[in-house]
Amino acid sequence: MNAPVRPMPHFASVAQAIERLKPTEPLYLLFPDKFRTAAKRFLDGFPGDALYAVKANPTYQALDQIWAAGVRHFDTASLGEIELVKNRFPDAICHFMTPVRMPGAAKTAFEKYGVTDYVVDCDASLDKLLAEVPDAKKLRIFVRVATPLGGAILELSSKFGTTPEEAARLLGRVAKTGAAPALTMHVGSQSLSPFTYAQAIEMARRTEFMAKVPLAALDVGGGFPGPYLGNDVPPYHWYFDTIRESVAQMNNPDIPLLCEPGRALCAEGISLVTLVVLAKGASLYMNDGTYGSFDELTLPGWTGDYPVSAWRLDAKGSARKLEGAPKPFRVFGPTCDTLDVLPRPVVLPEATGDGDFLVWDAMGAYSVAVRTPFNGFYPDGWAVIGD
Ligand SMILES: Cc1ncc(COP(=O)(O)O)c(C=O)c1O
Repeated sequence: MNAPVRPMPHFASVAQAIERLKPTEPLYLLFPDKFRTAAKRFLDGFPGDALYAVKANPTYQALDQIWAAGVRHFDTASLGEIELVKNRFPDAICHFMTPVRMPGAAKTAFEKYGVTDYVVDCDASLDKLLAEVPDAKKLRIFVRVATPLGGAILELSSKFGTTPEEAARLLGRVAKTGAAPALTMHVGSQSLSPFTYAQAIEMARRTEFMAKVPLAALDVGGGFPGPYLGNDVPPYHWYFDTIRESVAQMNNPDIPLLCEPGRALCAEGISLVTLVVLAKGASLYMNDGTYGSFDELTLPGWTGDYPVSAWRLDAKGSARKLEGAPKPFRVFGPTCDTLDVLPRPVVLPEATGDGDFLVWDAMGAYSVAVRTPFNGFYPDGWAVIGD
C-alpha cells in the first residue's frame, strides 16, 4: 500500500530546493513546521481525542510528520489503513470508523490489532460486526447519524449514516449487546461554517434523548477546512469553541469526544512544485494534472483553488518569484486526456511561461492520496523544507 520512504533531500527554503534540484518531475515539499502547527491546533484546542483520518494522505511522508507532531489516534477506515498505521507505529491507537467493512476485516482488526471502536449505520452492519467480533462488551460501537449539509463543500451523509429515529433504535440495540453505545457523524468535508457542528451536535443530543440510552462517546467527525483560495475560512478556534459550547448542552457535558480531521492535519504541510513544459499563449502545459495531484479540483461542487506562485531561475541560477500584472491562464496536465485540465483559470504573473516552476501550496490532502499512474505519469518526488 505504501512504498518505503527513500531518503529525502533537505533544503532551507523553496527557492533553494528549486535551485539545487531544478525539478523536471513534480516535487512534493514537506514542511515539518506546518505539520506541527496543524497538529497543535487540534491537540491543544479540541476538547477530546483528535484522530487523523488516514485516507486524506496515507503516505509515510505525511504519516511520519503527523506522528512526530504528537498525534496518536488514527481514523482508519479499512484493514489496509490499520495495517499501514500499526506496522509503522505499533503504539498507535486505531479506530475503525466506517460502517461498511470488507468481510473478515473487523475480526482481524480486533484480534490482531486490538481495535475496539467500530461504526454501524443499520442492522446488517451491526449484525456483521457482532458475527466477527462476538465479544461485544469489549467494544465501543458508534452509530452514524446523517447530518444536513450545512456549511460544507462536500457532503458525506448520502452514502453513510441514518436518521435520528433509526440511530436511536440502533443505540438501544447496541446497548443490549453490552457494547458501549456512541454516536458518530460527518458534517461534510471542507466545512466553512463552525455552526454546522453545532447543528450536528444538537442532532446527537436529541438522538440520545430519543434513545434513552446514555452515550459513552460522541465523535464529531472530520470536515475542518483547508486554506484554499476562494474559500473563506473563519478563525479556527471558532470550530472548537462552537463544539465546546454545543457539547455543554448534552445530557452529559463531560461526554468523551472524538474528531476525525483529515484535510486539516495534512493540507498545509505539503506544497507541490510543477514545471511548465510548454506555453502556448495563455495555455500552460505542466508535468502534473488532474490524474495526478489535482484530482480534488474536479469534484462536483468544489470551489477552492490551491494558492500558487510562479518561479524562474535567473541567469545566475537563483530562483526568483515572478511578479507583474496578473493574467488568467488555462493550465493543462501532462496526459493526452482532454479532461486533464484545471477546471478554473489560474491567475499568474503575465510573464509566466515555458520552463517556469509553479509552486502550489496547501496540497497535502486528497492529492497524493488519489494520484494515478495514468498515461505514464506518476508524481512521487519529495523534499523537506526546514528542519
Ligand atoms: C468517516 C470520515 N472521517 C473523516 C474524514 C476526513 O474528513 P476531512 O478530511 O474533511 O476532515 C472522512 C472523509 O471522507 C470520512 O469519510
